[in-house]
This record gives sequence, structure tokens and C-alpha cells, in this order.
Amino acid sequence: MCGIFGYVNYYVQRSRSEIVDTVLNGLARLEYRGYDSAGLAIDGDKPDEVLLFKEVGKVAALRKLYASSKINNDRLFDSHVAIAHTRWATHGRPSPINAHPHRSDPNNEFVIVHNGIITNYLALKALLTSKGFVFESDTDTECIAKLCKYVYDLNKDSARPLDFTALAKLVLRELQGSYGLLIKSVHYPDEIIATRKGSPLLIGIKTEQKLKVDFVDVEFPELPDITVANNIPTITTPESAGLSNLTVPHLMTSNLLMPMDGSDLRRSQSRAFISEEGTPMNAEFFLASDPASIIEHTKKVLYLEDDDIAHIYDGELHIHRVRREAGEPAIRSIQTLEMELNEIMKGSFDHFMQKEIFEQPESIINTMRGRIDFEKKTVTLGGLSSYLGTIRRCRRIIMIACGTSYHSCMATRAIFEELTEIPTTVELASDFLDRRSPVFRDDTCIFVSQSGETADSMLALQYCAERGALTVGIVNSVGSSISRQTNCGVHINAGPEIGVASTKAYTSQYVALVMMALLLSDDSISKYERRTSIIDGLSKISSQVEEVLKLNDTIRGIAETDLAQQKSLLLLGRGYQHATALEGALKIKEISYMHSEGVLAGELKHGVLALVDATMPIIFLATHDSLFPKVMSAVEQVIARSGNPIILCNKGESALSKLGKTYRTLEIPQTVDCLQGLLNVIPLQLMSYWLAVKKGYDVDFPRNLAKAVTVE
Ligand code: G6P
Repeated sequence: MCGIFGYVNYYVQRSRSEIVDTVLNGLARLEYRGYDSAGLAIDGDKPDEVLLFKEVGKVAALRKLYASSKINNDRLFDSHVAIAHTRWATHGRPSPINAHPHRSDPNNEFVIVHNGIITNYLALKALLTSKGFVFESDTDTECIAKLCKYVYDLNKDSARPLDFTALAKLVLRELQGSYGLLIKSVHYPDEIIATRKGSPLLIGIKTEQKLKVDFVDVEFPELPDITVANNIPTITTPESAGLSNLTVPHLMTSNLLMPMDGSDLRRSQSRAFISEEGTPMNAEFFLASDPASIIEHTKKVLYLEDDDIAHIYDGELHIHRVRREAGEPAIRSIQTLEMELNEIMKGSFDHFMQKEIFEQPESIINTMRGRIDFEKKTVTLGGLSSYLGTIRRCRRIIMIACGTSYHSCMATRAIFEELTEIPTTVELASDFLDRRSPVFRDDTCIFVSQSGETADSMLALQYCAERGALTVGIVNSVGSSISRQTNCGVHINAGPEIGVASTKAYTSQYVALVMMALLLSDDSISKYERRTSIIDGLSKISSQVEEVLKLNDTIRGIAETDLAQQKSLLLLGRGYQHATALEGALKIKEISYMHSEGVLAGELKHGVLALVDATMPIIFLATHDSLFPKVMSAVEQVIARSGNPIILCNKGESALSKLGKTYRTLEIPQTVDCLQGLLNVIPLQLMSYWLAVKKGYDVDFPRNLAKAVTVE
């Protein structure tokens, strides 16, 4: 998905090539999120000159384009602002013209990079076109750049010039939709605006001197702010009449002028950035949509909240808001990232996905670390402690997620119901929203997300929060929107997951959800034995994952010789293994582009059996649990139709001997039924990996897919 990276140096001298390297490396660290084109904006050599470089394809292609430009790379800048972007096409195909940064005019007076979608862009475009602006791209984003110039031009001759924050406020109130946004302008040299609404944005801070305080004050207008002062009813443009969403609230000349009584936004100093001598310190700022791109520079970060307008100038970071709501915090803390650089490097592995598959013995331990006492058989989840009573009393639990995260909910739903005795449903976020499903105050809604930024899950979260339900996040990315906007939750602590195909996040989500079910039921005597056996199972699970990983070579062989030439693959399981079948099929589709389908084994006879013959590849998840006899009956039905299945079974499974010799096995250690999916999914992850490698596909960047899907 789209990625944003910006770099500001204030009295830290950098050559142009250093600046460009910093932003290109920042973009490269965002590559894992998926994108189709990239671009950057830097200052030129002439006064008021901003240069844009945009290219389709990888960041490497943009690097090449820049290298061919013959620009003076040695030029030194004491202070400078650079912005850059990786784009994942939504409006308009991938092309240099549609790539970001977008500009206000041929002189590049305002350039911007944007993540998200501006839903009223057609109305804005129509109005700006009528004012003489000529649009060059098919994007929704371009209207923001042009709107900046339009507002600037309207105000430029006024008695009091508009400062960058005031301009941003006037522009932002015209925008509907979502954005993470950086704005750079020749009119505000060495300054930058960074703002967000529904799309993540954070600011890394690097100073030689220690910051005076570890927070930044939020600056609220003291006098009636510009939004209130111009309290004009929303108007609908003629072009958009009849279309909902396509409105421009204030886009009439008189309302885009800065009121004379507007607050003096320049009067304040940002306490954190003032040196002992009372002057601003030399500083560098790294603005990004993802912390992975800034940790090589600094671990000090500030996460922007929705509607924050960050304005960096003269070495200071200021955060503004257009109004103050009751109880709203007046500071944003500067936090220290826990992440290490080596966590986002491939090390000796060929691909991030491979590394992440092999990290699972450790990532699972990290999920449980400090939370399970294996001797006392207790679970502690600090993030839920204040809400346990509310959850235990709730009428039902609704788990809501997308993609792989949805499968981890499927995999744990049954143990949730069994241990908590609370009716539990599992929902795909998009479908849940499409149905406008009823949600009540006594519901507990659990949002499971690796990135914590998935747009469908976020919208579902807002929907449930508006209806008064308790919202719980099960999230990997610390500081992400879902982790911050839920009432409570659990970080799965799997470490950064870079491969688009989710692997270690799945197993960690699974463990986190099982831990939550264990915790919720720890007041039930009747569940004691069951809980104890699950906790014992969890104590061994990491070493069992290691054992399964030893199947790597065997699985590679099967993938390369038996499956790579096939067009399609069926995966069958039931009970706990239905989720494993779905997740295995998704992995195979995602990165090897082979059609694969996860089928509930009980449904085989209701249609899928028609596909079965001697050539159809089939994998059965037939590890031992109470449903094993039923799965075996499905295996027999397949063999009776000349099928040659691969059977994933427990070590030394004797029941298979009666099947003859038309099958192969992959033997997996046995664990408790509700944990077996943690082990069974690993051969399927490996299989998808080796299939993709064999076919020569880009394992970490599968076509058309993105790591964090921040659009609906
Ligand atoms: C995208 C990714 C999937 C992921 C899904 C949900 O489709 O490609 O790997 O499972 O989003 O993402 P989340 O971050 O919410 O878990």
C-alpha cells in the first residue's frame, strides 16, 4: 500500500546526494507494503525551485531515474525539506504522471504526497478547474496540491500573510475522506506540514542535544478558530449535485480568506526543541507512514493523532488542532521505539517470508513471554486487566478481521466458545460493514490485525465504537490506529512482519487469542483441566514448531516436483483444521498465484467431490482430534475416486494403513486439538513459499497485493 517518507534537516548540513539517499532508503524500507510507482521532491539550485522525480516500478527504478538526471549531487544544504512516496494505484493506472508527489502548477509551488482517498475530489477538481487550474493526473490527490495554491493565492495580498499552518487548516477543512499527508512549498522554504486522518503518520526526531522534555504541546486556537469563524453551511457544487459525498464545504472565495482575528500561530515555542541557551537546536526529522523506515536513523518517535497538523520549521515541531474537545490531551508524547534494525533485515535468508516462517519458534515465545506462568497455569494480559469483568459479562463476542487475521479468528473461535461459554461469531470486516450488522453496548468486539491499519477493520472498529460496544485490539504494530483506538487489547509481539504473505503474525495472533480465552475462563473450576492441558500444550509448542520446520526439504521437494506444474490445489480439513485449510489456500494463492481452495471436509460430498480425479492435487489436514474419523471418511471418498492425496497427519498414525498406497504423508507432532493448527499451518506456509520460488515469483512482493490495505 502507499508509503510516505519525508526528511527535514535543520542546521545539520547535508549534501543533496545524502538527502536523496535518505529518502530513497526510507522508501525502500516501505517496499514490503506493496506499491507500483514511486517519486520524490527536493529543492533545486535556483531560488524557489523544486524538482520532482517520479517513476513506475521499484524504488530502484526511481534511483536510476534520479542518477540519470545529471543534477549537482554535491550541493550542500544547511536546511532542507524532501518528501517521497510509494504509490499503490487506486485512481488512475501506475504511471509517472499519476505517481506522487503531486504539484499545484507547472512551477511546483506546492508539492504533496498523500496516502488515503479524498472522496470529494471530483467536486474539488470541478471547482478548481473552473478557477483555471489544469489537472494533469487521474488521481484524487492532485486536487489537494492545487487547493493549496488556490488558498495561498487568495490570501497572498492580504494584510497578514498566511502562515503554513493556517493555510493547511483552510485546505484541510475542504477535504473529505482519509489522508496521511505531507506538504512542501516554495512559499515556506525549509518548512513542512504533516497531517493525518485515518491513515498512519509518525515523526522520528534526531537531535544531538537531549530534548528538554519528552513531549510536544498541542496548540489549540485561543481565539475563535478559522473553522468556527467561517461557519458557512456545506454547499454542493453544481457538478456534484445529487451525488452524496461530493461536496466542498467552504470552497467559496470569501471563506478561504484568513480571518483577521485568527490566532497568531507563530508566537509559541515548542519546549522540547529549545536548547539550554533558549535557541532551537540542530535537528533532523523523519516523517513516515511506518516506523520500519525510520529506525535506522532514530528511535525517538511521535505518533500523530487524527486531525493533528504538525508544522516543522526552524528546528521545531509544533502540533496544532483546529479546536479543542472536552478532555482532549494537550500533549503528544515522544516515545522510544522498541524495534531493532536487524528485525527488519533479511539476514541469511533469501526472503523476508522465509525468515519470518523460520522465526516462528521464537515469535510464538515472544507472544507468550511474561504472560503465561506455565507452573502456576495462569495467564496475565495487562492490556485487558481493567476490562475482564466487562468482557466476561458481555452478551456475545464478535471477532472482526480481514485476510489471514480473519483465519486466526476462525482457528480460535471454537476454543473461545468452549472456554468462555460466550456466543462467539467471526466476521470479515468488509461484509460486517456491508450488512450494517446490529451491534449493542453489551457486545465485545475483537479486532485482529497485524498492521493495525487495515481500512475495513478500522471502519468496523469505528462502527462498533459508535454503538457503544467494548472494542478490543489484537494487533502486532505498536502505535497503529487499531491499537490506539480500541478500548483495550493485546500486542502480539511477533516483531515486524515484512513479507506481504502473513506467517508469524498468524501464529502469534492465534496464540494471543488462545491466551485471551484462557484468561477469560480462569474463574471457572469446570474448565480447569482443559485449561491446564492447553497451557501445557503451549509450553511445548515452540519446540514442536521447530520440529515441523525440519520438514522444509521434504516440502520443497513436493512443491517443486509434484505441485509446481499444477493449476489448482484443494486443501481439506474440518473442525479446528478448517481454518488451517483456508489459511493454507490463501498463502498459496497469494504468492504462487496458483488457484487453491480451502474446503470444509464435511462439505466435500456437497459439490467439491465433482472435481476429484487422479490428477487433482489434494491435501488433507488429518491430524488426530475428535473429528479424525470423519476426516478419514473424506480421505476414503477421495481415494475411492482415484485421488492421490497428501495427508498431513500425526506421527505414526496407524489408521492410515488401511488406505492402500495411493497417498503420501507429512508427519506432524501432536498437540492439544485447539493448538494443532499452529503446527499444521507451517508445512502449508513452506509449501506456498517453495511453490513461489520455483515459479520465479517475487515472494515478498506478490503482484497486486499490499501488506497494509489502507483503502476500503
Ligand atoms: C492484506 C495482507 C494480508 C493480511 C490482510 C489483513 O490483505 O496482504 O496478508 O492478512 O491484509 O491485514 P491486517 O494487517 O489487518 O492483519
